[in-house]
Amino acid sequence: MLENLKRNKKYTKTISITSGKGGVGKTSVTCNLARYLALKGNKVLILDGDLGMANVDVMMGKRTEHSILDVIDGEKFIEEIIQPIGDSIYLIPGGSGLHELSHLTVYQKQNLLEQVSSLNGYFDYLLIDTAPGIDSNVLYLNAAVNEILVVVNPEPASITDSYALIKVLNKYHKEERFSILCNEVQSEREGLMVFQRLSEVCEKFLCVSLDYKGHIPLDAAMSRASRSQTLILDKSPYAPAAKAIMAVGDKIGADTGLGRAKGGLQFFWEQVLGVA
Ligand SMILES: Nc1ncnc2c1ncn2[C@@H]1O[C@H](COP(=O)(O)OP(=O)(O)O)[C@@H](O)[C@H]1O
Ligand SMILES: [Mg+2]
Repeated sequence: MLENLKRNKKYTKTISITSGKGGVGKTSVTCNLARYLALKGNKVLILDGDLGMANVDVMMGKRTEHSILDVIDGEKFIEEIIQPIGDSIYLIPGGSGLHELSHLTVYQKQNLLEQVSSLNGYFDYLLIDTAPGIDSNVLYLNAAVNEILVVVNPEPASITDSYALIKVLNKYHKEERFSILCNEVQSEREGLMVFQRLSEVCEKFLCVSLDYKGHIPLDAAMSRASRSQTLILDKSPYAPAAKAIMAVGDKIGADTGLGRAKGGLQFFWEQVLGVA
C-alpha cells in the first residue's frame, strides 16, 4: 500500500478523538475530519482504537479483515494491514490488538516499533478514534498525541465523564492541554454553555487549559449519513453539521502542532509502547 504514497519527510500531526462517555460522535467526527483534511490535500492515517460496533471501517462503508493484532503476532507486516478507505485516507484497524499494546514482550515491542517506523514521512495526520472512558489503553493513546480532542455532548453524564477523563490524564499522565468539541448541540450558545460548564469544574479542581474547538449542531443529516454508511461531508455537504465539521477542520489544520514538546509518528508509537 505504501508504494502508492509519496514519502517526503512529512511531520505527522497526531490527534486523538476521545470522550468520557460512548456514543457522543467520536467515530463520526474522526471519519468526517479525515475526509475534510484529505480534501484539503493531506494524507491521513486513522488508527481505529475502539472495539465498539460502529467502527471506522463500517462508517466508511468498508470491511477490514486484519488488524494490528496480526502485526503483533508476527503474521503480517504493517503495510499489509493498512487499508486505503478513501482518497488519501488510510486505516490501521486496531481490533483487540490495542488492548495488548501495553502488555507486549520486549521483542514484540521492538518488532512493532520497527514496522511502524516504516510509516514515518508519509502522512500529514494520524487521527486516533479511541474507545470512551478511562481504560489504560485509552489513556496511553491520549498521552502519546500532539492534540487530545475531547468530544462532549450536552448530556450531564457526558460532561462529568469528560471531566473524569481530563482529570485522570492530568493527574497520572501530566497532560495539561485539551481541545474540546461540543457535539449534538441545539445552538452555538449551547455549545459554549457546555464548554463553560466543563471549564468551570476543571478550573476549580485541576490545573489544565481547555481550547474550544467549536460545536457541531444536532443534525438529522448526520445520523442519516451513518445509517447509510456514508459521510455527511459527502452526502449532505451543505448540512449545518457538515459545515461545522469543516470549521473544526480548519482550526485543526491551522495549528500544525510543531513546536510542541511531544509529537510526530515515531514519538507516538514509542510512547504507546512505553519504550521511550
Ligand atoms: N451532530 C450530530 N447530530 C446528529 N446525530 C449525531 C451527531 N453526531 C453523532 N450523531 C449520531 O450519534 C450516533 C453515535 O455516533 P458515533 O460517531 O458512532 O459515536 P461514538 O463513536 O462516540 O460512539 C451515530 O448514529 C451518529 O450518526
Ligand atoms: Mg465510535
